[in-house]
Amino acid sequence: MLDMFLLVIISAALVSAHTVLTYPGWRGDNLITNETFPYGMQWMYPCGGMKTTTNRTFWPVSGGAVAFQPGWFQGHATAQIFINLGFGTDGPNGGPPNMSNPMVPQFGIIGPSKNPYAGTICLPQVPLPVNASVKVGDNATIQVVELAVHGAALYSCVDITFVEDNDPRLGNVNETNCFNSSDIGFSDVYTITTKAATGNVTSSGTTASFIFLKKPSTLSWMNLTGWLPVIVCSLWIIL
Ligand SMILES: *[C@@H]1O[C@H](CO)[C@@H](O)[C@H](O)[C@H]1NC(C)=O
Ligand SMILES: *[C@@H]1O[C@H](CO)[C@@H](O)[C@H](O)[C@H]1NC(C)=O
Ligand SMILES: *[C@@H]1O[C@H](CO)[C@@H](O)[C@H](O)[C@H]1NC(C)=O
Ligand SMILES: *[C@@H]1O[C@H](CO)[C@@H](O)[C@H](O)[C@H]1NC(C)=O
Ligand SMILES: *[C@@H]1O[C@H](CO)[C@@H](O)[C@H](O)[C@H]1NC(C)=O
Ligand SMILES: *[C@@H]1O[C@H](CO)[C@@H](O)[C@H](O)[C@H]1NC(C)=O
Ligand SMILES: *[C@@H]1O[C@H](CO)[C@@H](O)[C@H](O)[C@H]1NC(C)=O
Ligand SMILES: *[C@@H]1O[C@H](CO)[C@@H](O)[C@H](O)[C@H]1NC(C)=O
Repeated sequence: MLDMFLLVIISAALVSAHTVLTYPGWRGDNLITNETFPYGMQWMYPCGGMKTTTNRTFWPVSGGAVAFQPGWFQGHATAQIFINLGFGTDGPNGGPPNMSNPMVPQFGIIGPSKNPYAGTICLPQVPLPVNASVKVGDNATIQVVELAVHGAALYSCVDITFVEDNDPRLGNVNETNCFNSSDIGFSDVYTITTKAATGNVTSSGTTASFIFLKKPSTLSWMNLTGWLPVIVCSLWIIL
């Protein structure tokens, strides 16, 4: 019993402030903080410090489930989630060239408290990115990004190979591995324009710096010196 208790505590410590991809799997354990990754491995773009793997998971060619444990976010009850796809193996480390293809619109999660929390969320039918054209046998990488309230993000990936939707090698998706814990809420993320850009930069304020940038070679030191009091004066006012 005590052993069990200790194990739970140790596991909780290990996963504190991180994301665990539970379905369809992940590249591997990146819940590591050491000398190479003094801030924690999972903060490294694009896949939390994990290189491309060869033990790929099968995933349906028209999209499928993605489940993960987003909690354990000490000090942050909320976060934003992004799920992206990278195509192929022509990029760095034999992975995709980029991870710039969103599969779902970003969404917010609301945890039960500021303390780390357990719990799983699952999207049973994550579609392919808009306009993606993949075929059975293609390789790709799913990236889950968890954006913290302070702007840094945690990264976790799984390398996949597309198979037919009804391929018998696909893992069963059911209430055991794909469910939403009741203590995690969801929110929409909106962008509200508070001030639209009004056009090209033509104000006199920027014209002044334009002169400085455009014609430095024609300015003699004499001329510059003439400007110096103005610059110093402005700086002084700013300071
Ligand atoms: C691939 O292998 C690594 C290392 O053994 C393991 O941690 C990871 O879970 C495996 N990934 C999949 C998708 O099976
Ligand atoms: C830190 O952990 C990573 C992942 O296991 C490993 O590649 C790296 O060598 C480790 N660094 C040190 C200094 O042990
Ligand atoms: C997909 O990845 C697997 C494992 O890394 C590799 O054996 C296979 O050749 C790759 N397929 C394609 C089409 O690149
Ligand atoms: C990302 O990579 C894909 C190929 O997988 C390419 O078609 C696309 O132009 C790239 N996008 C960006 C923003 O680099
Ligand atoms: C998808 O393809 C259509 C038609 O080519 C194009 O108009 C649209 O901009 C594309 N969407 C994205 C997100 O690339
Ligand atoms: C769900 O699927 C998994 C993996 O195939 C299996 O181990 C588990 O027993 C299934 N659970 C239920 C309730 O069917
Ligand atoms: C979990 O909640 C999200 C957001 O409401 C929803 O899209 C998804 O279908 C739910 N997952 C399950 C397994 O019901
Ligand atoms: C900004 O300048 C460009 C090039 O002169 C012009 O095509 C465009 O219409 C201008 N936009 C606005 C909002 O004035």
